[in-house]
Amino acid sequence: MRFLYFNAPLCSGSGLFTRKFSKTKIRVRQPDNQTNKKTMTTESNVQNLRGKIAIVTGSNAGIGQATASSLLQKGCHIIMACRSQQRATEAMELIKTEYTKNVKSEEPMPTIEFMALDLASLESARNFVNELEQKQIKIDYLINNAGAFFKTHDVTKDGFEQFFHINYLSHFLLTHLILEKNLLTDDARIISLSSGSHKWAKPGTFSDEWMKTSGEKKGGIWQLYGISKLCMILLTRKLQKDFTEKGSKRVAISVDPGFVKSELGKSQANAVLKYIIHGIEFLFAKNADEGASTTVHCVVTPIEKLKPGMHYIDSKEAPVTDIAKDSNLGEELHKVSLQMCGLNQ
Ligand SMILES: NC(=O)c1ccc[n+]([C@@H]2O[C@H](COP(=O)([O-])OP(=O)(O)OC[C@H]3O[C@@H](n4cnc5c(N)ncnc54)[C@H](OP(=O)(O)O)[C@@H]3O)[C@@H](O)[C@H]2O)c1
Repeated sequence: MRFLYFNAPLCSGSGLFTRKFSKTKIRVRQPDNQTNKKTMTTESNVQNLRGKIAIVTGSNAGIGQATASSLLQKGCHIIMACRSQQRATEAMELIKTEYTKNVKSEEPMPTIEFMALDLASLESARNFVNELEQKQIKIDYLINNAGAFFKTHDVTKDGFEQFFHINYLSHFLLTHLILEKNLLTDDARIISLSSGSHKWAKPGTFSDEWMKTSGEKKGGIWQLYGISKLCMILLTRKLQKDFTEKGSKRVAISVDPGFVKSELGKSQANAVLKYIIHGIEFLFAKNADEGASTTVHCVVTPIEKLKPGMHYIDSKEAPVTDIAKDSNLGEELHKVSLQMCGLNQ
């Protein structure tokens, strides 16, 4: 096996300050006072996504919640794939309230439901897909949104470096099993949240063994976050390559939401840091609705107008690093990921 390793410096591109330190006690995004202005839901686009089904991971807070809210307002059925039923239920109530406030339609509100998914556990991802299979539905939009930021090194109970596992590996497994069980529509879209921090991940040596044992000892936390976000781009490009080779109409896209005011990493910050972060967010960050806009764009844009396999920022195709475009690296990551998930190649 070829060894891969990524190295990222201590700061990254968009969203760096929030993700480095933050997390407040309130996990549920409150409706923004400017929601009407930002979401721009109108009678004319309400029906656009009627009959469509989206899974949004990590939709009980931040960008994921705003994404779920926006898609529901466009008529889409939403599956909130979250680790906490309580937080998801609280967010769901807010999403429904926003729908009622913003949408004037004779049609009933589309349904929105919770399904348990803890991305820190491969077993949870497997259980999620088994439960999904029993519903006998096909998913139109798989939105791999959830992400976490930690200030210390650690491994998950499955033994993987935690950034890699939560932000990438469980999304890899989720996507792989959903495809394997044919739970996507023929023209489904898979949208995976990456970050400007992918730019700071550089090649070197890396292996499944390294990821299992060395995450806690090697690499700064920004390095580890950057690796996980680079992996989301490599995953997207590999998925698209496979779709294209098979003549499938399905599309995979990676998205950088920009620097967005959210809960990412906030629980890790002390009071002083939170104060500083909130100040920086106040000055520079997008709100959650704006942060969700590129994901929503990639859902609602006619499929023939999307650039399959590409990376999007501000609703436009954007460049990625040469490493992120390295298809051999993508293949190696795919192989390593299959091994880590105990899947046959
Ligand atoms: N905010 C930015 O500036 C920025 C910039 C670039 C990229 N991004 C990316 O955008 C995505 C959304 O981030 P955000 O800013 O909206 O962060 P956020 O407000 O912290 O929301 C993250 C979501 O992920 C969920 N999550 C975390 N760990 C999980 C786990 N083990 N299992 C299942 N769900 C889990 C959280 O659920 P809990 O409430 O249960 O923790 C929450 O719903 C992430 O992938 C992030 O990397 C954000």
